Amino acid sequence: SKEKRVLMSGKTFYITTAIDYVNGKPHIGHVYEKIASDVIARHFKQRGDDVYFLTGSDEHGIKIQKTAQKNNMSPKEFCDSNVVDFQALAQDLNLDYNKYIRTTDDYHEKAVQKIFQKLLEKGDIYKASYTGLYCSGCECFLAQKDLTEDGLCPDHMAKPQEVKEENYFFRLSKYKQQIIDHINANPDFILPSYRKNEILNQLENIQDISVSRPKTSVSWGIEVPGDKEQVIYVWIDALSNYITALGYESEDDSLFKKYWPANCQMIGKDILKFHSIYWIGLLLALGVKLPKTIFAHGWITIDEKKMSKSLGNVISHKSILEQYHLESPDALRYFLMTTTSFGRDGNYSDEDFKSKVNADLANNTGNLLNRSLSMLLKYFEGEIKQEFVNDDAKELVDATLRAKKKVVENFDSYMITEAIDEVISLVNLTNKYVNETAPWSLAKDENTLIDCAKVLYNVAEVMYHVAVLMYPVIPDISQKILSQLGEEKNIADIKLDDLKWGMIEPKKIIDKASLTPVFLRIDSELAGDKKK
Ligand code: MSP
Repeated sequence: SKEKRVLMSGKTFYITTAIDYVNGKPHIGHVYEKIASDVIARHFKQRGDDVYFLTGSDEHGIKIQKTAQKNNMSPKEFCDSNVVDFQALAQDLNLDYNKYIRTTDDYHEKAVQKIFQKLLEKGDIYKASYTGLYCSGCECFLAQKDLTEDGLCPDHMAKPQEVKEENYFFRLSKYKQQIIDHINANPDFILPSYRKNEILNQLENIQDISVSRPKTSVSWGIEVPGDKEQVIYVWIDALSNYITALGYESEDDSLFKKYWPANCQMIGKDILKFHSIYWIGLLLALGVKLPKTIFAHGWITIDEKKMSKSLGNVISHKSILEQYHLESPDALRYFLMTTTSFGRDGNYSDEDFKSKVNADLANNTGNLLNRSLSMLLKYFEGEIKQEFVNDDAKELVDATLRAKKKVVENFDSYMITEAIDEVISLVNLTNKYVNETAPWSLAKDENTLIDCAKVLYNVAEVMYHVAVLMYPVIPDISQKILSQLGEEKNIADIKLDDLKWGMIEPKKIIDKASLTPVFLRIDSELAGDKKK
C-alpha cells in the first residue's frame, strides 16, 4: 500500500539462503538456516527496510540423478515430488520469504546458459582434459591432501571416484588476488570473522576449476551452450540462483537492479569455500557487484552426534512439533536460535529443548505477563488509567531502551543469539523488579494502591517492547502478547523507530476471557507418554 511505502526507509535488504538438495527430506539442519534467515528478514523489515528474502532448491547433479534412478523415477519427477516437502517449510515454520527458486525453473536454466556463454566469450572458460578424484557427496573434485588417511572424503567418509574426462574450466586463478584483497579490505565480507583465515589459506593454493561434466558421467544438468556432450557443473548452476532469481540475464531484470548486491548470503560452514571463493570469482568475471556479507553458520548436531542416515539420528522439525503437540513453530524457532551463539556449532536434544523453552518462554516471559495482567484485572478491572503512567522506574526504562539499542547492534552483524540474550536479560530484570516492588502487597493498602498500578503499567510497557523485539524469532507468541496488552495493530506493522517508552494507551486493555497463557509449558510427562 501507499502508506507502507512512505514508511519504508528506501533502503533495500536482500537476504538469501543456500538452496537445498532435494534428494532427501528436509531435516533440522536445513530448517536451522531457513529460520535464521527468516528471523533476520523480519528484523530488517522492522527497521523499515525493503526486504527481499530468497530461498529454494538445488535440483541437478549426480546425487539427484542417482537417487531418482533408485526410486524408478525420472530426475524431474523425483524433484517435483520431493520439493513439496521443502516448500512446505514455509507454513510449517512460518517462513515469510518472497520467492522460492528451483534450479529446474525454465528462466533459471536459460540464464545459467547465458552466464556460461558470457564467460566463454570472455575467455574465462576454456576446455581441457582432466584427471581427478570426484566426491559425489560434495559434488566436487578433491585433492589428495583433502582426503583422510584411508583415502576417503572427510565429510562423507566415502571413496571419491577417479575420473578422467574433457571438461570446461573456469579461470579462477585469474581472480585469486582480487578475491584475497576483497576479503582483507572488507571485514564484514566473511562473517563470523573467525572463519576468514580458513578461506584465505585455501585461496593460497587455488587453481582453475572444472565447470562442466560430460553427459556420459552426469546427464542430469543444464546443457553447455553449443556442446551437446556436456552439462554445466552443478555448483555453477546452483550459485547463479542468487541473481537469476532476480531476473539477471532475463527480459525483466528490474528486481536484480533493485536488490543486488545481496546484503546477507546465509549458508552453512561446509559450503563457505564455494561461496567466498568460487561465487566471488564468477561475479568478478561477470562484472557483477559482490555481496556485502557471506555468513557461514555452524552445524546442528543431535545429542552431540552428527546427523546421518547410517546413525539413524536424522531429526525433522515435523517430528519435534508433533511430539510436543506444538501448533506454532515458535518454540522450535526460539530453541534453534538460542542453542548456541549463532555462527558456532549447536546441538539439539529433547531435554535441552524442553528445559530451554519452558524456562524462557513459559516461566520467565509468559508468567511475568500473566501474573501482572492478572493483578491488573484483580485490582483495576484490567484498565490502565492516565495516572498509572509514570517515569519513576528510571532503571527499568533505561534498561528497556538499552535492550532495543543492543538488539539492533547485534543484528547489524547477524548475532541473533546475542540479540535474544539482551531481551531475556530485560525480562529477568523485570521479574526482579516485580519481586522487589511486590505490587500484590502495595494493593493491600489504599495509600499505596496507586504505586501498585504504576508497577503494573511499567511491566506492561516492558512487555510491549519484549514482544516487538522478539517478534522476528517468535512471531505468534509476540502477537499474542501484544493483543493482551490491548494493542490492536498487527505486530508485523510496528517499526522499531516507533517503539518508544509509552506505547500502552490508557484504556481497558484486558478482560478475564482473554487472559490465557501466551505459551504453554511443554509437559515432560505428557510428551514422554506420547513418545511411547
Ligand atoms: N545444494 C547445496 C547448496 C547450494 S547453495 C548455492 C547444499 N545443499 S544441502 O541440502 O546439502 O544443504 C543446504 C544448507 O543446509 C547448507 O547451507 C548446509 O550447510 C545446511 N545444512 C545441512 N545440514 C546441516 C546441519 N546438520 N546443520 C546446519 N546446517 C546444515 O549444500
